[in-house]
Amino acid sequence: MSSLANQTVLVTGATGFLGGAVALRLANDGVKVKALARRPEKGQFLQHSNIEIVQGDITDAGQMRKAVENCSVVFHVAAALGGSLVKQRKANVDGTRRVMLAAASANVERVVHVSSIAVYGYSARGDVSEDKPQKPGSVPYNLSKSEAENVVREVGAEYNLPYSIIRPGMIYGPRSNGWTTSMFKLGRRKPTPWLGDGRGAAHPIYVDDVVDLTILLATHPAAVNEAFNCSPDPAPSWREFIGSYSRLAGHQSWLGIPPLLVYPFAPLIDLIMTLRGEPQDLWTLIGFLQSQKTYKVTKAKTLLGWEPQVDLATGIERSAQWLREIGLLA
Ligand SMILES: NC(=O)c1ccc[n+]([C@@H]2O[C@H](COP(=O)([O-])OP(=O)(O)OC[C@H]3O[C@@H](n4cnc5c(N)ncnc54)[C@H](OP(=O)(O)O)[C@@H]3O)[C@@H](O)[C@H]2O)c1
Repeated sequence: MSSLANQTVLVTGATGFLGGAVALRLANDGVKVKALARRPEKGQFLQHSNIEIVQGDITDAGQMRKAVENCSVVFHVAAALGGSLVKQRKANVDGTRRVMLAAASANVERVVHVSSIAVYGYSARGDVSEDKPQKPGSVPYNLSKSEAENVVREVGAEYNLPYSIIRPGMIYGPRSNGWTTSMFKLGRRKPTPWLGDGRGAAHPIYVDDVVDLTILLATHPAAVNEAFNCSPDPAPSWREFIGSYSRLAGHQSWLGIPPLLVYPFAPLIDLIMTLRGEPQDLWTLIGFLQSQKTYKVTKAKTLLGWEPQVDLATGIERSAQWLREIGLLA
């Protein structure tokens, strides 16, 4: 498999931020895309002659078997990014199993599974390469994304189904709610409140870089049954990342909240979140946000010749154009 042009592929999560970007890039490259949508009306931005919206839920085995028909590659991007462990396990673990089993029964040539740096957990420090043991802890997202990877490896081995796993950092860019819209809204506050001096490492990766690697993993021979980090290497600081949004809003004023003031509230907030079924392990998260670490991309560079192409300044500038389009930035 050297090129996907004229082949038919399935993209799950196509109504979402990353899945939509993957689907549109593939379609523009001449690939026939089946774009999975639970609610097709959410896929209006996917209008393209090479995109067919396919209604379906990844937790439904029958719908998934139908969705993968005639596909050579499945890009499994869909996931639940919040909610209780029960909810996230259903989508991220059971859903991934359904996708993998459907792909195996349709003799798909490769599944590209979108995972996350979250699988390494909040104790990650220093240089984090792909062979670092996963310690996701009890946070539902981290745990369910790590379990989803296990399912990919299990089903892949059992059915001899080739797969490849991408572990992106914090994906930002046009249509990103988390790392662009929300972060811009935080950064435009003057002064911008954040934990301490903001010198801890952040891991923003521009969406086009993630799309590039996701698609490369579908065809590169060296990517088979391997996992790859996809994150800025070296990592910028939170102050550089959030400060870039503050500069767009015309200021550089920072309000460092001393971590010692925040720690005492962590157990109480954790207790409330745990009672709601969404434990967050805030104590460990506070340390994580202040720590130094880089999710190394040496493996993708060496094996695949991929490395991020969009530096932070360029990515923020491109995001600014979108923030203007949606009326958040003058
Ligand atoms: N955003 C980041 O910074 C980031 C970082 C690392 C990894 N990732 C991973 O990247 C992937 C995409 O994230 P994103 O930011 O694009 O999230 P998103 O915008 O919330 O998109 C998630 C997509 O998954 C779909 N989905 C969820 N449950 C489903 C189900 N049961 N059946 C079918 N579709 C379902 C959603 O459909 P609806 O539109 O119907 O809700 C949506 O299209 C995820 O695997 C995530 O873990 C994201």
